[in-house]
Amino acid sequence: MSSIVHVALGERSYDILIRDGLLGQLPELLRPLKLGRCCAILTDATVSPRYATAVRDALTAAAWSVSVHTVPSGESSKSLSVAGKLYEELAEARLNRRSFVLALGGGVVGDLAGFIAATFLRGVDFVQVPTTLLAMVDSSVGGKVAINLPQGKNLVGAFYQPRIVVADTATLASLPEREFRAGVAEVIKYGVIYDAVLFAELERELPALMAKDAAVLGRVIARCCEIKADVVSKDERESGLREILNFGHTVGHAIEAVTEYGTYLHGEAIAIGMVAAARLSQKHGGLAEADVARIEALLRRAGFDLQPPDVSFDQLLDAMRSDKKARDGGLRFVLARRIGEVFSSDAVSESDIKEVLHVSRR
Ligand SMILES: NC(=O)c1ccc[n+]([C@@H]2O[C@H](COP(=O)([O-])OP(=O)(O)OC[C@H]3O[C@@H](n4cnc5c(N)ncnc54)[C@H](O)[C@@H]3O)[C@@H](O)[C@H]2O)c1
Ligand SMILES: [Zn+2]
Repeated sequence: MSSIVHVALGERSYDILIRDGLLGQLPELLRPLKLGRCCAILTDATVSPRYATAVRDALTAAAWSVSVHTVPSGESSKSLSVAGKLYEELAEARLNRRSFVLALGGGVVGDLAGFIAATFLRGVDFVQVPTTLLAMVDSSVGGKVAINLPQGKNLVGAFYQPRIVVADTATLASLPEREFRAGVAEVIKYGVIYDAVLFAELERELPALMAKDAAVLGRVIARCCEIKADVVSKDERESGLREILNFGHTVGHAIEAVTEYGTYLHGEAIAIGMVAAARLSQKHGGLAEADVARIEALLRRAGFDLQPPDVSFDQLLDAMRSDKKARDGGLRFVLARRIGEVFSSDAVSESDIKEVLHVSRR
């Protein structure tokens, strides 16, 4: 049985399907959507040799006309120059307004393909087939698509919802352990921000999750998608509630920026950020000390190094203030009242942050 999570966004609503082995069923899953007959698969050089042929052959056998477009793996493909090249390839392949773009890959491919789909011919249909844990629980859900500029990440983008998300958990078998773990950080985040029951399940089932046990994976990914879908359907364009998804991200983003995105995977940086946020929550949100300890223990058991990097505090602070989500240079934190309930706060001071990072570094 697939899990189906519905994202309720009026006429932009769509389903997220999650199960082991869904790639082979793509034609049946796509058929009810009445998409056009031309499909451009956008993928990266790591994912392409593993999964693109199977997807292309399945769609071709079902009478779709398919072109495959492969970009280099990694964040650098979320660029204007790669996007420019893809627009030209799609024009060469004679895609029309009824054609659709299918993103087959992690968050990089999803963000890039979504950006292309949102803009090529003023918008064509978009299908997400995420192949990383992070993409399954986070980037493929919610409709944020973007590319980077040399001046910063995700500076050019759109809100553009897919018509469907098909998450085949079998693809995670080939995902390197480090990438998988980075996705687990976001999974733990969902427990902290929204669902104490999920958090407790993660405490119980962490070894099975880390071993990619199909049943646990399916259940946990579906729950994370439900949470993100719920948050996004209440605040599609990030004017309020959606901010809670940034628990751990104020410090996490700063760590990524200061280390120039070369040392930490996103999930590794936010794991450190979540420990900082949990400690700040104890002071400003009333989070019990025992719950701070539970959050830290779960992250540690998942294998994260929770020691902040050895960089100057002023550098981190600058990065926090210049984050595009900071309001006019003010510091904004998502804090927890308890596990499963968070709120946004402007009350955190520089010295509070310094103190919690210092505790972590000892
Ligand atoms: N749109 C959103 O709401 C949102 C949310 C969070 C993150 N993001 C974006 O997502 C991106 C990060 O996504 P990511 O962590 O998936 O990174 P990624 O897409 O770079 O994938 C990580 C690595 O795993 C490889 N890979 C992917 N699937 C694989 C598989 N099944 N087997 C083996 N290797 C595989 C990729 O080639 C890549 O080398 C960032 O650009 C970030 O900005 C977007
Ligand atoms: Zn994140």
